[in-house]
Amino acid sequence: MATESPRYAGALVTGGGSGIGRALVSELLARGVPVMAAALDDAELVSLRAEGGGRLATYAVDLTREGAVDELLAACEAAGIEVELLVNCAGVGLFGEHVEIDRAALRRMITLNATALSDLCAVVGGKLRARGRGAILNVASTASFQPLPRLAAYAASKHFVAALSEALAEELAPYGVQVSVLHPGTTRTAFLAGAGIAATADARGIGRIADRVAMDPSEVAAAAVEGLYRGERRIVPGLGNRAHDLARRVVPRALLSRIFGRLGRSE
Ligand SMILES: NC(=O)c1ccc[n+]([C@@H]2O[C@H](COP(=O)([O-])OP(=O)(O)OC[C@H]3O[C@@H](n4cnc5c(N)ncnc54)[C@H](OP(=O)(O)O)[C@@H]3O)[C@@H](O)[C@H]2O)c1
Repeated sequence: MATESPRYAGALVTGGGSGIGRALVSELLARGVPVMAAALDDAELVSLRAEGGGRLATYAVDLTREGAVDELLAACEAAGIEVELLVNCAGVGLFGEHVEIDRAALRRMITLNATALSDLCAVVGGKLRARGRGAILNVASTASFQPLPRLAAYAASKHFVAALSEALAEELAPYGVQVSVLHPGTTRTAFLAGAGIAATADARGIGRIADRVAMDPSEVAAAAVEGLYRGERRIVPGLGNRAHDLARRVVPRALLSRIFGRLGRSE
């Protein structure tokens, strides 16, 4: 762990109340970075505050709400957190046949995973560009490596995150601002249950496979922050996920999509 002065004056971590985001908050606090952790549920944030350690502020906000991004940035200012690092980690998934998923839930997912993330990148990215320093770390997924039947819109939202991040990295690099994208594979968090994986017989096979290959959020967060501090634009934590990253370069996209679409169906 680094002992020199923290690289960032402050960080904003969305999805900071649980799972990968919470582990990222701990990593950053341990490196001496003051953090604003945002999440949907205040109870998660209360328990995060109780863990203590480092300078931590929290804010509960539904990022799918109109005006939520501006409200959150105002909360950072009020708490004296100077956002030099933006970590977009808040995200949800929805498992199932696209035509059967509730449309309002789909819209909420896309608003959170794509629209809110894009808004935060635009507003904070603009401030960092003017300042000539700082970084953005966007959490995509290995789901962005190919289309994913039964997680179609989720995977599509993560393709958006990956493509936006890589293009933004080029746009902001001349101004001294780093943009990195993290591609976790299956990770042991509330995400899988929240997405409906394991809720149905069809999903149970996927759930069992996911459980076998899942990483711990702390491992994912450690790899993410190390990669960020090394200046890497694409961070793929874990050997299995790196093998997946390699496979998608050699296996035709349609075939990979079909293989993943069939995973767990015969379990
Ligand atoms: N777990 C995996 O297998 C996996 C794999 C690849 C990528 N990812 C990505 O990793 C990121 C973090 O997920 P996770 O696995 O750590 O799951 P998680 O523990 O469920 O964390 C999701 C976070 O998003 C927040 N959130 C949900 N809806 C929100 C909303 N409307 N407004 C604001 N915040 C909201 C949650 O807040 P509350 O805690 O208050 O509900 C929580 O902090 C997501 O972007 C996910 O797509 C996860």
